[in-house]
Amino acid sequence: MAPVLIVGCGYIGRRVAALLQARGAAVTGLVRSDATAQGLRDQAVRVLRVDLDDAEAGAHWARGFADIFYFAPPPPQGETDTRMAAFLQALDAESPPRRIVYISTSAVYGDCQGRWITEAEPVNPATARGRRRLDAEDRLRAWAAEHGVQWIILRVPGIYGPGKLPLARLRAATPVLREADAPYTNRIHADDLAAICVAARDSVQANTLYNVSDGHPSNMTDYFFRLADAAGLPRPPEVARTEAGQVLTPGMLSFLQDSRRMDNRKLLAELGIELQYPDLDAGLKACFD
Ligand SMILES: NC(=O)c1ccc[n+]([C@@H]2O[C@H](COP(=O)([O-])OP(=O)(O)OC[C@H]3O[C@@H](n4cnc5c(N)ncnc54)[C@H](OP(=O)(O)O)[C@@H]3O)[C@@H](O)[C@H]2O)c1
Repeated sequence: MAPVLIVGCGYIGRRVAALLQARGAAVTGLVRSDATAQGLRDQAVRVLRVDLDDAEAGAHWARGFADIFYFAPPPPQGETDTRMAAFLQALDAESPPRRIVYISTSAVYGDCQGRWITEAEPVNPATARGRRRLDAEDRLRAWAAEHGVQWIILRVPGIYGPGKLPLARLRAATPVLREADAPYTNRIHADDLAAICVAARDSVQANTLYNVSDGHPSNMTDYFFRLADAAGLPRPPEVARTEAGQVLTPGMLSFLQDSRRMDNRKLLAELGIELQYPDLDAGLKACFD
């Protein structure tokens, strides 16, 4: 199998790498920290150490890969994704990859007032976090179109899985929004997301985007309640929206601005996906077994 690069080879990247290695692929993971690099070596993934915030201009370190997965998040500030810009500059226009699969986020849609949305929904990010993601999508699509490279964008909601559950928050009894006030949120189990990424690489479809979700949205409060029940922890206290500004972190408040339900039918049909964890009960059970 042709060589694969995973830019931002962290929690999801390691899962994708394992799936590809099982099929005989030579996988390289790009990361910046020692700890993540060592974890990759332990998994027999070749390591490329680059800090996308401080990458050498003009060096084509992303050359020589047939398929590239881009999983690095945008920087924490600003309106643009300078990391995506640095990555695109490191590709060799003379010998570009076949395909790039990008994990974006559902935040690009902004608030949809709880409506079910398909991929035809116009983008309208309400937060700088969402605007940086949209900037990354736009840059990738423009570069790929100019250089004849295939792209797939996955608009991903909340990722959960073993080791990626907000248990510390539950143990600290951090309040959640009263359920009646809580917006709709969507989720995907990490193993399903990894399988979706590989399917996006293999698909005959190209130059298109997918809503990623298990198809069973609920609200953030319901998520914390069900997680607490599954973990055997007390359910967190609830606060009204009027009090939320005083007790919730700005990060959590930004996630509570948007309400939407993601329609995943295009994903399931076109990528031939059969979800291992089609709802939270199945996914949480697997996290605690
Ligand atoms: N958490 C969610 O619910 C959620 C929802 C939607 C989308 N997403 C997005 O999905 C993607 C994959 O998530 P994940 O859980 O696998 O994330 P993750 O474990 O944090 O992995 C991201 C990787 O990106 C690397 N990275 C970050 N900044 C970098 C930089 N400046 N230069 C080079 N590498 C850099 C990190 O390397 P080091 O480890 O060496 O720092 C890390 O390995 C991310 O973009 C995430 O934002 C997450």
